[in-house]
Amino acid sequence: MKFEIKRICCIGAGYVGGPTMAVIADKCPSIRVTVLDINNQKILDWNDNDLSNLPVYEPGLDKIIKRCRGVNLFFSTNIKEEISLADMIFLSVNTPTKTKGIGAGQASDLKWIEASTRQIASYAKGQTIVVEKSTLPVRTAETIKLILEAQNDDNNKKEENNNQFYILSNPEFLAEGTAINDLENPDRVLIGGENESAISALAKIYENWIDPKKILRTNLWSSELSKLTANAFLAQRISSINSISGLCEKTGADIGEVSKAIGMDRRIGSEFLKPGPGFGGSCFKKDILNLIYICNYYGLHEVAEYWEGVIKINSWQQNRIVRVIINKLFGTVAEKSIAILGFSFKSNTNDTRESPAIKICNDLINEGAKLKIYDPKVSKKKIELDLNLKSTVENICSPNGSWLYSTTILDAAKGVDGIVILTDWNEFKNINWNELYKYSRKPTWLFDSRNVCDTDKAKEENIKVWELGSSSSE
Ligand code: NAD
Ligand code: UGA
Repeated sequence: MKFEIKRICCIGAGYVGGPTMAVIADKCPSIRVTVLDINNQKILDWNDNDLSNLPVYEPGLDKIIKRCRGVNLFFSTNIKEEISLADMIFLSVNTPTKTKGIGAGQASDLKWIEASTRQIASYAKGQTIVVEKSTLPVRTAETIKLILEAQNDDNNKKEENNNQFYILSNPEFLAEGTAINDLENPDRVLIGGENESAISALAKIYENWIDPKKILRTNLWSSELSKLTANAFLAQRISSINSISGLCEKTGADIGEVSKAIGMDRRIGSEFLKPGPGFGGSCFKKDILNLIYICNYYGLHEVAEYWEGVIKINSWQQNRIVRVIINKLFGTVAEKSIAILGFSFKSNTNDTRESPAIKICNDLINEGAKLKIYDPKVSKKKIELDLNLKSTVENICSPNGSWLYSTTILDAAKGVDGIVILTDWNEFKNINWNELYKYSRKPTWLFDSRNVCDTDKAKEENIKVWELGSSSSE
């Protein structure tokens, strides 16, 4: 059997669904691509004429949307019709950690996967390839198949539609902030499945712009498990280097020099060795927790404990940064103003899910600090939601701590005792320390948890500096 793919749709118009489908539409002009969501506002934003209003900020995405939207790329809430017309359907819905019930705090919550699979079961017609794009626990394809086939057993529907489903696993490896480049030039594309023709149909789409040698075909379970494993390994590297940053501060070694020295060993490699306030983002923590849950489920408790260590170091790094700030500011931050520069979990994204800034800011506010938060892409509304606290109108004193939204770096730094860098935004590399120092309260501290600032320049202005993983700041 041979599939002809003319029309695809994607359920979920989020950080993965939006950019991934935009690139497919851009590279495959003969395929009509529709991105679906139940969130009406999100679809309105994807269709907004003002491209700075797109729900996802990703360098280069606006240009693709401009080229393709309304041509062969559409954003819609018309789930029923689009599913019924699609030859191939991507599932790109959220799979966060469960917050209640069995496995709460570890297992992935698959209720969105189940709901969207049921939508497919109800509306799909004829032969349909269903592609898992979301990150899923190994063996989820089995569940998807059961749901789709159960609907097929419904005799009335079977006669009506003559449905047949083929399930593929095609995990996404893009990183936010570099999504477009990652999608256009991936290290590899992974397609897991049982039906060779269905696998080939998806591979053919990617072959429009990706070297076939980079398209890896596996069985379903290897594909699902490879995605969780890749994220666990990447997160493990960050926890490893962060653990060593603490040791550097005690011993006189310098984390930058250590990272460079070990990264030049080809067997280790130089990527993912940047120390920081701990990994954030919507995936690393949830995917490792999920791996831990799966290991425990299969009785592999030692393996679960091993991966738990990665999560523990990540929390340790955030906690110790809060302790350093308090210690340097004479043991208390109560009613002191502190500038927070950067709130997103990494640069070049407006995403704040699991951002280390959330925990660090909350802890400082609980200690009574008055924070002034600046981020080039994160809105005041988003920070209010994340901190569960409204921004004050002006920099008022509150014994319970408070925070104020700032629109420039200078605005954030006025009158503060400390400036804390929490995201590696490019603009923090060229801060005018002379100007900031004039307006801050003395002694002024710079806490650079990302090692992005020109700290020599800050020191020249008499600013006291703490740099992550450097013993000279102790
Ligand atoms: P997201 O929350 O940004 O987007 C998910 C979207 O799905 C939301 O807009 C939601 O409204 C929509 N949705 C949920 N149920 C629906 C339904 N029944 N019908 C229609 N729409 C529905 O999530 P994301 O960051 O895009 O992640 C999606 C998946 O991709 C997750 O499994 C994640 O682990 C994985 N992933 C994410 C990244 C990343 O960088 N964010 C990278 C690789 C893989
Ligand atoms: C990560 C993976 O890199 C992607 O391959 C994967 O597809 C994605 O998760 C996912 O499954 O969601 P992402 O979370 O978007 O992508 O961003 P990363 O670049 O991996 O950064 C994650 C966190 O680690 C950030 O907080 C970042 O600042 C931190 N990090 C990263 C470091 O602290 N040091 C580093 O050297 C690299």
